[in-house]
Amino acid sequence: MALFSLRCFTQTSRWFRFSRVPALKFHKSSMMGATVEQFEEAKNKMSTLKNDPGNEVKLKIYALFKQEEARQQYCNLIGSLLAKEGGSPAQEVSAQPAASSNTYTTLLVSTQDNITTIQLNRPAKKNAITTEMYEEIIDALQQAAEDTSVVLTVFTGAGDFYCSGNDLSNFTKIPEGGVEQMAKAGGELLRRYVKAYIDFPKPLVAVVNGPAVGISVTILGMFDLVYAAECATFHTPFSQLGQSPEGCSSYTYPRIMGASKACEMLLFNKKLTAVQACELGLVTEVFPDSSFQSEVWRRLRSYAKLPPNSLALSKQLIRSVDKDRLHAVNDAEVERLMERWMSDECFNAVMSFFQAKAKL
Ligand code: COA
Repeated sequence: MALFSLRCFTQTSRWFRFSRVPALKFHKSSMMGATVEQFEEAKNKMSTLKNDPGNEVKLKIYALFKQEEARQQYCNLIGSLLAKEGGSPAQEVSAQPAASSNTYTTLLVSTQDNITTIQLNRPAKKNAITTEMYEEIIDALQQAAEDTSVVLTVFTGAGDFYCSGNDLSNFTKIPEGGVEQMAKAGGELLRRYVKAYIDFPKPLVAVVNGPAVGISVTILGMFDLVYAAECATFHTPFSQLGQSPEGCSSYTYPRIMGASKACEMLLFNKKLTAVQACELGLVTEVFPDSSFQSEVWRRLRSYAKLPPNSLALSKQLIRSVDKDRLHAVNDAEVERLMERWMSDECFNAVMSFFQAKAKL
């Protein structure tokens, strides 16, 4: 996850460049009370401001520019409704079970053949995880844990990415209490999110269909099987973003791959291919892209026929030794991240991402 400090970014020249975010494609007539013309006028006036309005205001402005995301969410929702009626929003995952029920807006969740599939469903944003999505994943995990028909729980992504990690625009939505309140709320959400994985009582499987970034990679240390397509990559660019590891990776990674390889990933942002990640033990097995879906789902369907109690109890035996330790690691990682999110290093890195996206 990423947050950022609002203490810097004060040079006028940089503010001027940031204020010239590209025009967005709003519908012709009106936008919730303001006409397109009024919007254009306000946008032009913004770049004539003489005084820097401050970082919090600038981030709010950025968030307003991003209202187009509401349309994306609308598309995702319609896509999920169509999928429910038998259509498929992501052709490349057609070997998966069709969604049988979906009350989520950012996920496609289905249960079939004793397998609950949680598919991240924001392909246009490379499945970046929004605040709403974190909450929905926690709910979906809870539902899978409680449903006695569910033997395996599988994560995958819609489209060409598995997941691009935390949605960095989560942090343009600054509450009244400012960045400290945002860091606190973000920290609490992260703590609950990771806790949901630590406490999950049944086998968890990742079907990594493409590149994976950030928290979608760190959390893999708590999965019981990680199947990857050859095209998948694994990247945790924390220091690049002025941040620090989460998802208990500061504990699981050194245990899985040894301290020096873990540091190469978690400190020095080394991106691994699927084959490299498999050699290090983070990935269970790599499959050719062409046969990935059919081969993986064939296997999972057969695994899901194994005796459910035996599977769940065996998983709990393997994981219980570390459970208290993992909760402590999660707490420590969250504390460190809340500090990081308020640092200048982090703020600068996240603003750089937005500036690059605004093609300045
Ligand atoms: N947060 C917010 N938006 C994201 C995102 C993220 N983590 N990852 C992707 N997006 C958005 C992009 O801004 C872009 O939005 P736009 O169409 O409105 O411009 C859209 O998703 C498509 O991404 P794009 O960058 O055009 O695709 P790409 O294939 O060139 O690059 C990534 C994909 C994931 C490599 C690149 O988007 C990226 O580096 N994202 C940030 C990843 C990250 O740092 N995550 C946090 C780790 S702690």
